[in-house]
Amino acid sequence: MNPDIPLQLLGGISARVFLRDYWQKKPLLIRQAIPDFQSPIDPDELAGLALEEEVESRLVLEHGERPWEMRRGPFAEDAFSELPERDWTLLVQSVDQFVPEVAELLENFRFLPSWRIDDIMISYAAPGGSVGPHFDNYDVFLLQGHGKRHWKVGQMCDSQSQLIEHADLRILAEFQDSEEWTLEPGDMLYLPPRLAHWGVAVDECVTYSVGFRAPSAAEVLTHFTDFLSQFLPDEDRYSDADAQPVSDPHQIQHDALDRLKGLLAEHMSDERLLLTWFGQFMTEPRYPELVAGAEDLQEEDLLGSLEQGAILIRNPSARLAWSEVDDDLLLFASGQSRLLPGHLRELLKLICAADALHSENLEQWLIDEEGRNLLCELVKQGSLGFADE
Ligand code: SIN
Ligand code: CO
Repeated sequence: MNPDIPLQLLGGISARVFLRDYWQKKPLLIRQAIPDFQSPIDPDELAGLALEEEVESRLVLEHGERPWEMRRGPFAEDAFSELPERDWTLLVQSVDQFVPEVAELLENFRFLPSWRIDDIMISYAAPGGSVGPHFDNYDVFLLQGHGKRHWKVGQMCDSQSQLIEHADLRILAEFQDSEEWTLEPGDMLYLPPRLAHWGVAVDECVTYSVGFRAPSAAEVLTHFTDFLSQFLPDEDRYSDADAQPVSDPHQIQHDALDRLKGLLAEHMSDERLLLTWFGQFMTEPRYPELVAGAEDLQEEDLLGSLEQGAILIRNPSARLAWSEVDDDLLLFASGQSRLLPGHLRELLKLICAADALHSENLEQWLIDEEGRNLLCELVKQGSLGFADE
C-alpha cells in the first residue's frame, strides 16, 4: 500500500499525513469515509448476537432502575421487548469475530499494524440512546452504520479526571464541549486516546467502533518481567565482587544502585526475548476458547485434504503477526511464537494476509518440510482451520 496516495477513508488525505497530523493527536471528522455504506448487520442480527453465550454484550439505559443502568449479556430472548421507547443502547463487542462481512471492514485499516487493532464493537441505540460522556484509553474510529448520531468532543482526560460514582461505567462528571457533528451512514469520526466524547442517537442508529489495543506501561513491565523470569536461573543474582570497605554498614550506597541498574539493563535489553514476549502478548486472542484446533491432525491428512481441494482460512478469533530476528523469522499465532528459518518469509506473509490457503497458493510450501510442518502446527493449534468446518 502506497502511504502517500489520498484515501477516501481518511477524507482525501494520505495515510502518512493522517498518521503525522491526527493519529494519537487530534480528532478528525470524515464525511463519507465509506460512501453509500450499508451496514452488513442489522439491529435484529445484533440483538441475536447478544443472546449468545460467547459474545460480550451490554445494555445501557440512561433512565433505568437507576441513572445509567448497565446490564450485561448474554440476554434472554425477551430482554429487548421490555425496553423503553428511547434512551438506551445495546453494545456488542468483537462482532468482527462472528460476522465475516464486519471483519472485512478491517481491510480499510491496513495502513496500521493489524496487531494494534483490537476489535469492532457495534452499538444499536434507540433515539436519545447514549453511554454518556466518557473517555477511552485507546484510539477509535467511529463509523456511522445506520441512522444519525450526534457526537460532541470535549477535553483531554486522564486518570485524575472526575467521574460520577458508578459501579460499572466510567462517566465523566464534567464535559467541556469543544466541537460537535451529526454523523450519517458512511461518515466516520477518528478520536485519539483520552479525548472526552459523547454520542447521542438522533434517531434509531447503529455505530461501529474500530478499537485499538495498546498495553499500559504497567502491563508491559509486569508481563515482560514475568516472561523473562522463566529464563533466569536462580544463581543469577545481585553480585558485588567489586565491593569496597563501607564507612557505615547501615547505609545503602549508590554503588549498590548502580549494580542493580546494571542487572536490570542486562536483562531488559535482550531484544530477542522482548520481541518474543511482545509478539506473543499482542497476538493473545480475546476469546482463547474460540481458538481450538484439530490437535490430533496428521501431516499426511492435511496434505491429502489440500490435494482434494480443501481450503484453509484464518480462524477469525486468531491473531497473527510475524517478525525477523537476525536471519530467522518469528511467527506469532494467538499468543504463541515459533522461530522459523528465513526461507519461509513469503509463507509467513501469506499465512498472515491471505483470505484463503489452498493447494495452489501453498504449492511450493507443501513440498518444503518446514513449511508443511508449520501449516500443520497452525491447524493443530486452531489459528488456521478448514473453511467448510
Ligand atoms: C457507542 O457506540 O454508543 C459508544 C462508543 C464509544 O463512545 O466508545
Ligand atoms: Co468511547
